[in-house]
Amino acid sequence: VTARITLDRSAEIAPVNPRIFGSFVEHLGRCVYDGIYEPTHPTANQDGFRQDVLDLVRELGTTTIRYPGGNFVSGYRWEDGVGPRESRPKRLDLAWHSLETNEVGVDEFAKWCKAADSELMMAVNLGTRGVDAALDLLEYTNHPGGTHLSDLRAKNGSPEPYDIRMWCLGNEMDGPWQVGHMSADDYGKIAGRTASAMKMLDPTLELVVCGSSGSQMPTFGDWERIVLEHTYDSVDYISCHAYYQERNRDLGSFLASSLDMQYFIETVVATADHVKHKLRGKKTINISFDEWNIWYLEEHMLKSEEKREDWPYAPRLLEDVYSVADAVVLGNLLITLLQHSDRVTSASLAQLVNVIAPIVTEPGGPAWRQTTFFPFATTAALAKGRVIRPMISAPSYDTKAYGGAALVDAVATLDDEAGKAAVFLVNRSQDEPITVELDVRGLGSFGSVRASSLHDEDVYAKNTLEDQNRVALRPNDSARVDGGTLTVTLPPVSWTALDLG
Ligand code: AHR
Repeated sequence: VTARITLDRSAEIAPVNPRIFGSFVEHLGRCVYDGIYEPTHPTANQDGFRQDVLDLVRELGTTTIRYPGGNFVSGYRWEDGVGPRESRPKRLDLAWHSLETNEVGVDEFAKWCKAADSELMMAVNLGTRGVDAALDLLEYTNHPGGTHLSDLRAKNGSPEPYDIRMWCLGNEMDGPWQVGHMSADDYGKIAGRTASAMKMLDPTLELVVCGSSGSQMPTFGDWERIVLEHTYDSVDYISCHAYYQERNRDLGSFLASSLDMQYFIETVVATADHVKHKLRGKKTINISFDEWNIWYLEEHMLKSEEKREDWPYAPRLLEDVYSVADAVVLGNLLITLLQHSDRVTSASLAQLVNVIAPIVTEPGGPAWRQTTFFPFATTAALAKGRVIRPMISAPSYDTKAYGGAALVDAVATLDDEAGKAAVFLVNRSQDEPITVELDVRGLGSFGSVRASSLHDEDVYAKNTLEDQNRVALRPNDSARVDGGTLTVTLPPVSWTALDLG
């Protein structure tokens, strides 16, 4: 089987926005406690953060980190997490039926983000709280000094403000599972009031209003329209959240999951632009795809109903172990985000450590990379400059969930300054390798190509505590550049990166 791809520098989608490579840390299960924070771990620094985890986060290349939730934020009181640790209250976390000790709060997390070379993206609680608490948190984190809350931050050890730019106005308020779940109308009103007040403190903030928790939500479409009608002038982004999993052993549909993401993005863009024209809006609202990943959600729901009768501290929740197929789909979702980078200008892989995460830890033990670590880290490292839309000609196959899907998907980036380009590709075929001929003459001339693929004879192979390096990115020796043509063979169910120089 063969496919053809033509790449031309004039087919620019947008500059590569580093914020596409964001992630997410929620107070959930072992993401914070026994994840990034474990004071008794042999690698812990003076703040109790695991250095081995920090090393892996830097290797992953995350740029922004959304915090502290997620469902958690809708019942969170940020004040509980500041000041002397010994006097911080323990609370019930209704979202995850867990005990929250507040050992880590915004001051510690801001420090951690600095160590992780990442920008902190903060969410405010619009589930049980509102304008007042959001303004207090903003004053605490961003005001330079001379007021009660900014001076309190200084007293708590951080005289310099954190200057947090991106703020989420609540989380998944369309979801019946959300503490304080509301109708689009009610949410639009509280989000609009909160956004306007926050911008009175700082008009340059970048505010994200909640969109839908998935394209399958019954309110999808109307939710975006109504919420934006209330908030258009005071917000900058609308969020999308999407999780995918293989269902009913239908690998073919699962491998084409990015078609849903594409539909989701294009529908939200159309809705946001509809509201823009209706309200004669001056600016354009972009998308913050601030939760996306593979998540075997249905399996977890069953487990949590069976087992959780108490209020445990740092329980093992949502600890999916990812396969090669999962990583191929994740790589494809990242290709889709890049293909839409003219309108998706921020994204967060949910989540970062232990909880549906690319990085896993054992308390007192090692930290290692899941299969999904590799496409994310490699794309974040190689995608520089401008995103280029490829012209793809490939055979297609039938899927139960989405109808016809191309066997090959791809996107490219071009970095003129460095004289480099990169191409990211997937082969969705379950049994055939596909040889792809890429016409790269329109990009420039390149003397060398380095190709690496994520693939395994067993598409369900995983990295585990016992076998932490079973799956990794391996060199793909089939790649050749000959004049303006690059040829590479993609193994079945694989993700590949081409690094051209
Ligand atoms: O990322 C896990 C959960 O998924 C988040 O807390 C919530 O926002 C979403 O439903």
